[in-house]
Amino acid sequence: MKKKKRSLLLATTIIGLSAILSPLATVGAANDYTVSNWTREHVTNIELNDRNTAPVINMDELEKLDEGYHTWDTWPLKDKDGSVAVVNGYKIIFALSAPSHVLPGQVHDIAEVRYFYSKNGKDWISGGPVFEKGDALGSRQWAGSAMIDEDDQLHFFYTATGRKGEERITYEQRFAKASADVVASKKGISFKNWSDHQIILEADGEYYQTQEQGSQGDIAYAFRDPEFFKDPKSGEEYIVFEGNSSGAPADRSCLPEHSGSPEFAESHDVPEVSVLFNGSIGIAKASNEDYTEFELLPPLLEANCVNQELERPHIIVKGNNYYLFTDTHFDKFAPGITGPEGLYGFVSDDLFGSYEPLNGSGLVIANPEDNPYQAYSWLVLPNGTVISFVHFSDLGDLEIADVGHQSHEFQFEHFGGMPAPSLKIALNRDRSHIVTELGQGVIR
Ligand code: FRU
Repeated sequence: MKKKKRSLLLATTIIGLSAILSPLATVGAANDYTVSNWTREHVTNIELNDRNTAPVINMDELEKLDEGYHTWDTWPLKDKDGSVAVVNGYKIIFALSAPSHVLPGQVHDIAEVRYFYSKNGKDWISGGPVFEKGDALGSRQWAGSAMIDEDDQLHFFYTATGRKGEERITYEQRFAKASADVVASKKGISFKNWSDHQIILEADGEYYQTQEQGSQGDIAYAFRDPEFFKDPKSGEEYIVFEGNSSGAPADRSCLPEHSGSPEFAESHDVPEVSVLFNGSIGIAKASNEDYTEFELLPPLLEANCVNQELERPHIIVKGNNYYLFTDTHFDKFAPGITGPEGLYGFVSDDLFGSYEPLNGSGLVIANPEDNPYQAYSWLVLPNGTVISFVHFSDLGDLEIADVGHQSHEFQFEHFGGMPAPSLKIALNRDRSHIVTELGQGVIR
């Protein structure tokens, strides 16, 4: 990657950030900062093989965490260092949920966070909703993360989507935070003494697209999925999240660096509509001890003209390497390039880049071609365990966009809404491979 330094003070316009910062900029006093690109060239290197293709899931052998609820995006309670926390012998997971009678296409409109706990990391006991009724911000809550500190305080970060009490559903997305005591008793795990719920971050329109900018012709909008991360090298604390590159579509353009190397870019055709694909992975630095104030920093990575949604990004550190993972869908790739529903990853020896795609393409875990929508929302834990949920199974030739047009019976029959079998991956510098399948919903 070419190195060029510019001052962020110059970055006051709202044109695509990559045009301003790329590829290396100076943040604050001394930091070198690279906004990495996931390029169209990288995506053309995607190849499904036995190192990255998940075993086929047989939904009939699996069960819901709680029969009464669909669950999807799931995350464990973690210690500050990112390892899975153990409280009085229990592991605790949080999951977005909706009652089982709700159609799969509607679950996101009423999502609520529930929790489950387990001594063996395999059999989960339902603890109920995490928040007290009416406390959570947003008309519903989307994915987030949870950390327990040295004083057994839970710090819970989530996406407040829409506004509480709104008459018609909206897609505004802001980050919210609340704290509570984690109480372990003979009865199990509960959360007490909740703080107020506070909005801690909103898109700024300079580094991250606002909804208003996105509404000027873009396909979809994202400012969500706050994931707590403590950098073991600097001790600084951050939130990593899914965003979109700033600016309205008319302010952005597809540049050769979005295609890839000069040789590739020269002969590669980029359909015009690709400009609407502006997924980014954002980062913000904690500026107080309560985790209620954060400073937005430029994105770690952008997929301009490549991919629209880089979901649930998260980082694990192994040796000297930062591994940055994200999930995306088949239909979120820009025209002219393609990739499967999958977990994608990037590696760098510096938190602030530059990130190179794992395996040359970024692909780490793909759903098998025979069951291309079987799982989604993969989350990699520091020891290489990967959790996800069962999405749609055995759709035959049906496109996912057509599922909503099928009978209710069909939709319920093919929707999982339950944990998928966990996988174990190995990471070796810039290569990864699936080692084995673990049991359903197993957290080790
Ligand atoms: C991924 C996701 C998240 C979001 C949630 C909403 O599955 O799209 O990005 O927080 O689902 O249900």
